[in-house]
Amino acid sequence: METVFTSVRDLSSKAGQEATLIGWVAKFRSSGKIAFLGLRDGTGTVQVVIARNEVDDASWDAVADLSMESSVRVSGTVRQDDRAPGGYEITANQIEVIGRADEYPIQPKEHGVDFLLNNRHLWLRHGRQVAIMRVRDEIVKAIRDFFYERDFVLVDSPILTGSIGESAGTLFSTEYFDLGTAYLAQTGQLYVEAAAAALGKVYCFGPTFRAEKSKTRRHLTEFWMVEPEVAWLDSEGNMRLQEEFVSYIVERVLERRGLELEQLDRDIGRLEAISPPFDRLSYTDAIAFLHGTGVEIEWGEDLGAEHETVLTEGRDKPLFVFDYPREAKAFYMKENPEDPRTVKCNDLLAPEGYGEIIGGSQREDDYDRLLGRIREEGLPEEAYDWYLDLRRHGTFPHSGFGLGLERTVGWICGVPHLRETIAFPRMMTRLTP
Ligand code: 4AD
Ligand code: MG
Repeated sequence: METVFTSVRDLSSKAGQEATLIGWVAKFRSSGKIAFLGLRDGTGTVQVVIARNEVDDASWDAVADLSMESSVRVSGTVRQDDRAPGGYEITANQIEVIGRADEYPIQPKEHGVDFLLNNRHLWLRHGRQVAIMRVRDEIVKAIRDFFYERDFVLVDSPILTGSIGESAGTLFSTEYFDLGTAYLAQTGQLYVEAAAAALGKVYCFGPTFRAEKSKTRRHLTEFWMVEPEVAWLDSEGNMRLQEEFVSYIVERVLERRGLELEQLDRDIGRLEAISPPFDRLSYTDAIAFLHGTGVEIEWGEDLGAEHETVLTEGRDKPLFVFDYPREAKAFYMKENPEDPRTVKCNDLLAPEGYGEIIGGSQREDDYDRLLGRIREEGLPEEAYDWYLDLRRHGTFPHSGFGLGLERTVGWICGVPHLRETIAFPRMMTRLTP
């Protein structure tokens, strides 16, 4: 195709001139002598007006046979029109159907979620989904820029692994040649800890896998996580890094994706309130607060989604909850010297009921304590020998965290269910499309 196409986003540069556009029919209505078509090309949607007496016969025949989501090529004049969404409209002089669409399954009416998910490959074309994907793309770019600007080095961690990262209960496994069982990575953390001793400040960013048997709106079996790891950083410094990081991401989305947030009906004011510092609450104080509001929970239990909602209610910004009981958290977290029942860690809870978006901690850098924890958890010691090496050969205080991309996209977009925050969600009950 040699013709130069004009994209909907660039129509202003063609005002008053001839242009050719390609795209899909997102809307269509016709009376005997005039037809209106909403042409969507990925950068936006523009109205095309097709008058019987201004197009050739072949074009009018094409219009008569048009169906929703057909792909078309349209040539015409770009007219500025303040009443048109986007400010422009096309008066067509030619239209050609490239691929006529069969009857399109998604209609402008309420569909059940299962139906939409079964048609996810088509559902992606719709305005709300396009807006979410654009915000997600912006968040990913902001994440990479944040770390690049601060001299972090990206180190990609493996997806096939021999050791358990978080908990044995949520592992996907597969046969691996003569070497027995391989696991799909639940985290890249153990590997970026090794890389931090080589480079100082590093991060990994990729898909991670949890065989979560929970069918909640906050759990996917495959999700993306960004995990920075920093040598010589303690738990307090780790929380400062997190609040700067999250604020940077939100600011970037406000700056560049205002239109999409508007399409999503997001309350922008709530996002504008996000800036450091965030409030900090110890786990022990959080339990006391929960007791004060009549919630039943015992010291030692991990916080659930309901608890997180109560703790963040009425707050404008995300909330740090720090120093959880060791039994509630993973084996690698550093024992708190001031209260050995707890570990130096934090979760970051997003407001408006979105809950945990980050889990982070200072890592146990003492060889004997770390080995003790591996044994206590009944983890296979051989698999962690290389990880223990990091404590044998020049151990160093270090901290890091993992931010879940989909939970962050959900919170920033105001989309409560993670199924809409990734193009092709993987959940307990969904593997296709
Ligand atoms: O709290 P998690 O399990 O922490 C870790 O994996 C650490 N190794 C991170 C680190 O310190 N490097 O997971 C981190 C974040 C959660 O806060 C949440 O945002 C997201 O990952 N997450 C999930 N997102 C979607 N579906 C799931 N099943 C998730 N599990 C965790
Ligand atoms: Mg967590």
